Amino acid sequence: MTELRLVELSAKTIVAVNNLSLKPGQEQFLAPVSYGIAATVANPLTVWQRVVLDGDEVVGFVSANFDPDAPEEHFRSILWRINVDADDQGRGVGRFAVESLVEEARARGFHHVNVMYEAGEDGPEIFFHRVGFTPIGETAYAEVIAEIRVTD
Ligand SMILES: CC(C)(COP(=O)(O)OP(=O)(O)OC[C@H]1O[C@@H](n2cnc3c(N)ncnc32)[C@H](O)[C@@H]1OP(=O)(O)O)[C@@H](O)C(=O)NCCC(=O)NCCS
Repeated sequence: MTELRLVELSAKTIVAVNNLSLKPGQEQFLAPVSYGIAATVANPLTVWQRVVLDGDEVVGFVSANFDPDAPEEHFRSILWRINVDADDQGRGVGRFAVESLVEEARARGFHHVNVMYEAGEDGPEIFFHRVGFTPIGETAYAEVIAEIRVTD
């Protein structure tokens, strides 16, 4: 693996991002209900989306929202979507994306990053635990709400 880096989503990368593949069984964990709801209330100015490149190859995508005025606390600094191409999973790409997101949250003055996910085999639960998220609650749709505290 060459050095991973983040770039903004652009016309150059969007097709590859849309074509990021999943491993069998992962598709059911991709869009929990609350993500859709959050997306409808999001201000495009607060959205942070980055493509992860390994050399010139698109290997992942991460999307988050930073909005201090979001009505619900756990939507103020939130990881919405993280995808690593099936062929590139298990090599630290996801961890790199989350660490980059935490750095962005810190730079913007947030003290936490939240995520919501569905628990279950084949889902991202273990990954989120391994990279530092701790469960703090549950949504009305029984998704786990988890959090990383951002230290100064
Ligand atoms: C979840 C996902 C982003 C993880 O990305 P990744 O690049 O494979 O993860 P990493 O290689 O950075 O793994 C980080 C840690 O999590 C662990 N991990 C990741 N996936 C795991 C799994 N399925 N089971 C057990 N451990 C797992 C790794 O072993 C690693 O642990 P360590 O660093 O402590 O040794 C990726 O599997 C994916 O894109 N899944 C499909 C989409 C999805 O479900 N997204 C989340 C909801 S939006």
